[in-house]
Amino acid sequence: SLDQRSGLTVLPVPAAPDEPRLPRARRYLMCPPEYFEVAYAINPWMNLGVVVDRAEAMRQWQELRRTYERLGHTVEVITPEPGLPDMVFAANSGTVVDGRVLGARFRAPERAAEAEHYRRWFGENGFRDVVMPACTNEAEGDFTWTGSVLLAGTGFRTDPAAHGEAQEVLGVPVVSLRLVDPRYYHLDVALFVLAEGGPGRSPLVAYLPDAFSPGSRRVLARLFPDAVLATEQDAACLGLNAVSDGRHVVLPLEATGLADQVAARGFEPVFVDVSELRKSGGGPKCCTMELRA
Ligand code: ARG
Repeated sequence: SLDQRSGLTVLPVPAAPDEPRLPRARRYLMCPPEYFEVAYAINPWMNLGVVVDRAEAMRQWQELRRTYERLGHTVEVITPEPGLPDMVFAANSGTVVDGRVLGARFRAPERAAEAEHYRRWFGENGFRDVVMPACTNEAEGDFTWTGSVLLAGTGFRTDPAAHGEAQEVLGVPVVSLRLVDPRYYHLDVALFVLAEGGPGRSPLVAYLPDAFSPGSRRVLARLFPDAVLATEQDAACLGLNAVSDGRHVVLPLEATGLADQVAARGFEPVFVDVSELRKSGGGPKCCTMELRA
């Protein structure tokens, strides 16, 4: 069948009758890649010699934004700053749950100034409860809200002490997870939430087991026994850097196996091209901060 909104062919796999996949309207914050480039290398995806097509990056970003709007979501836009090429990765600059904001503190000095620009945006846009962290945390890069607990990554960027700080500031239970593969340096390139949990309903997530330490793999298996397990191939195109609204799953077009898996669970994959943004180690989710009312 042809999905009217995305114009993409959607596999005709029906949702299990007891589990309708209902989308919920979201509010996102994004930053256009006006000054995007690979000017330093702080993850294995970034190669200093590589040429970035900034116009193409902008087209891909616009298409991602339009995709969200077509799906019925609201997209807020923050003004990019010269000299901050990674500011396009909005997910790294704030964790918002129930209108409470925990700001970011970057590990790399090259990105440090981004946190303050986003803090100012929150202040100017009606967010009253904004706390800037004492510990290093790269926000939704390493913090993933499941609807009931905050999954928190560490190993490459976010300090483990930031997990306790997030629990205290946001007032939500935090579960720590250890990342072990440098290609999956942030939690949001190793795991994403397909459907949030709620009272009496556990969240559904997708992840790459090999990105986690043995203990964290056991934690994930215990918390999410029915999770979608991604393949190395789907993770290696940053397929797990996906954004779900509870029904539509926006993901890189190369992640075809993962798309089939989520379709079999009743979700609708929506493909986007992120080839330019991936040169910096980012995909759809990295460009998208969720503003949870
Ligand atoms: N070049 C950026 C960095 O290494 C990419 C950040 C991607 N963002 C994310 N949420 N994973 O910091």
